[in-house]
Amino acid sequence: MTKTAKQIKQEGISDFKKHINLTQTIFLKSVGLEVLEGKRLGVHLWDVDTQERYIDCFCSAGSFNVGRRNTEIVDALDAAIDSWGMGDGMFPSGPKAALAEKLVEIAPEGLNNVMLCSGGGEANDSALKMARGVTGRKEVISFVKAYHGHTGFSLSAIGKPIYRDSFEPLIPGFTHEPPMNDLEAVKRIAGADTAAIILELVQGEAGIFVAEQKFLEGLRKICDERGILLIFDEVQTGFGRTGKMFCCEHYGVTPDIMTTAKSLSGSVYPISAVIFNDRARKFMEANPDMIVSTFGGGDLACVVGLKAIEFLEQNNIPRHAAEMGDYIGGAILKLVEKHKGLVKEVRRKGLMIGLEYTHDMMGPLMSFFLGTNGVMAIFSANNPKVMRLMPPIVINKEEADRLIAALDNSMASVKKSAKIIEAASKIPLVGNAIGVQELQVFLILIAKTIGKVIPKSGH
Ligand SMILES: Cc1ncc(COP(=O)(O)O)c(C=O)c1O
Repeated sequence: MTKTAKQIKQEGISDFKKHINLTQTIFLKSVGLEVLEGKRLGVHLWDVDTQERYIDCFCSAGSFNVGRRNTEIVDALDAAIDSWGMGDGMFPSGPKAALAEKLVEIAPEGLNNVMLCSGGGEANDSALKMARGVTGRKEVISFVKAYHGHTGFSLSAIGKPIYRDSFEPLIPGFTHEPPMNDLEAVKRIAGADTAAIILELVQGEAGIFVAEQKFLEGLRKICDERGILLIFDEVQTGFGRTGKMFCCEHYGVTPDIMTTAKSLSGSVYPISAVIFNDRARKFMEANPDMIVSTFGGGDLACVVGLKAIEFLEQNNIPRHAAEMGDYIGGAILKLVEKHKGLVKEVRRKGLMIGLEYTHDMMGPLMSFFLGTNGVMAIFSANNPKVMRLMPPIVINKEEADRLIAALDNSMASVKKSAKIIEAASKIPLVGNAIGVQELQVFLILIAKTIGKVIPKSGH
């Protein structure tokens, strides 16, 4: 008996809940995003059952810059399957060499060497090992609320204790003290035993905090003077997201090591890359077996990665991202004025956009109302007050207009619920508990009831 779409969805979600992630399923339901991903194309994804179409503004935290199932990239993968497989991690191959050459060509000058890996955490692990290996020093400086992945070295560099606490003791020698853009704090702690300073140029999970020009210049100077390796984690910011191929191009500051991942996947095949200068290469040369990866840079992944970069270049997508960022960013500023009191600050670089609301609860509520308006958007893991808007950077004007209309409708809806939340916050006990997830869910239920009387926009 063939299953109905509704049954497929129910079973899919129930098995996911049972075997993969119970809490995530409950959370997504609570913010109105109980979706089983079905068709996906360009900026959109469709729910298997309802066939509702969403503009994806989460994109697996910025992994789908070229759009979902980009036909050029899917075709390249299709053709590659006829000739290539995984490839042997030990041996050279055409696809690996071609991708490495392209990465060096598009990276800032001096970053001539490439190590291919599978994910962002692995890329950061490799970068940090290179830095320790080449300097013979132990200490690593990362930043408050930094996010670098969940593998050993990367997790040790994460700047939010909640991710680290359950796994202590982690790798010693890591400090996460300096706040982003606080050069004096770095100066105080960077010393003769510091191997590396690692940072995101726009902190993503932290809630879209953009590095300042003087700060990056200052970091480069400190590193040069004190023999420290500077690592830019461009896992989220890379491949056009911020309006340039790499975010560091905005600043004209070149790191010693740059890590990339997410959108190198062309939205279809995981791959990541560490791109580094000749100084960092010294350790790899002397120790060829110390930082390796069996699946890193499999041949199929390399074909996809190369095609993704070519697509970005040939269609001038980084520039398009800058233009669409200005367009959407400008419209958001007008909406902030129109719905006064909801949004405290808008932070943005290209199409990496963060809306900081005035209250923690606004993040989940906006997720919910945006969902009912055909937009999938999730607040920052490290900062629920901040909604991240990171649509595929191929988004066109018509799609951008739909996104702006959805934001407008959702802000209007949240504003009504906000009155209840504000009133509740003033009762001391409730005010203290408002950050607790159960209470947030409860408030969303209230908002849902309000939502019933608020018309949905067509999508
Ligand atoms: C800036 C940054 N670095 C590293 C990572 C980890 O990447 P992965 O999940 O592929 O290991 C992420 C993931 O979101 C990220 O945003």
